[in-house]
Amino acid sequence: MKKSIAALMLAIVVGITLISFDATAQRGSGMMGGGTGWGPGAFRSNGERIYFTSTSERGTAISYTSGPAATGWMMMGGRLACVSCHAPDGRGGRHNMGMMQVMDSKDIRWSALSPEFDAEKFRLAVVNGQDPDGTQLKPEMPRWKISDDDLADLIAFLKTLS
Ligand code: HEC
Repeated sequence: MKKSIAALMLAIVVGITLISFDATAQRGSGMMGGGTGWGPGAFRSNGERIYFTSTSERGTAISYTSGPAATGWMMMGGRLACVSCHAPDGRGGRHNMGMMQVMDSKDIRWSALSPEFDAEKFRLAVVNGQDPDGTQLKPEMPRWKISDDDLADLIAFLKTLS
């Protein structure tokens, strides 16, 4: 429980940071590529950056549909990233959504996903919400629009989590 609160706090900080950088960009500072404020070196890898911010150093767009905002969970306000629900350590956990609702996000460290998931099954889960067992993931898990290269970077990052 404590872990999920920490994850939530971090997600909120990341969200607020993104929002304030958006505002900076709108004032025309124009210093940051890709419309975000994460300068080079802020993350150890592009995969880590994607995990924490939903932005890619390639400048390719990453967006999502569905997710808790669509299902009535408005807490995040800003933009979601994997970390918002799967925690900084990738292990996921239980989130209290208010109104006695809980959301169980999964452990998505690569060591936990494999061997059930390979790169293609991971893509199908992230992009289409398709579980390897043939069922659909719950709508709390957003459906992501993300390039194959960015997905590969994300997998490389998930492999570093132990
Ligand atoms: C708003 C919360 C939320 C965000 C943001 C989110 N997820 Fe999820 N994710 C979930 C939930 C909840 C589940 C479990 C769904 C279920 O049980 O059907 C899940 C499940 C998954 C699964 C399937 C795991 C399994 O064992 O079945 C993968 C893979 C996954 N998420 C990857 C990601 C990635 C990669 C990102 C970032 C690009 C991301 N998620 C962002 C909530 C989220």
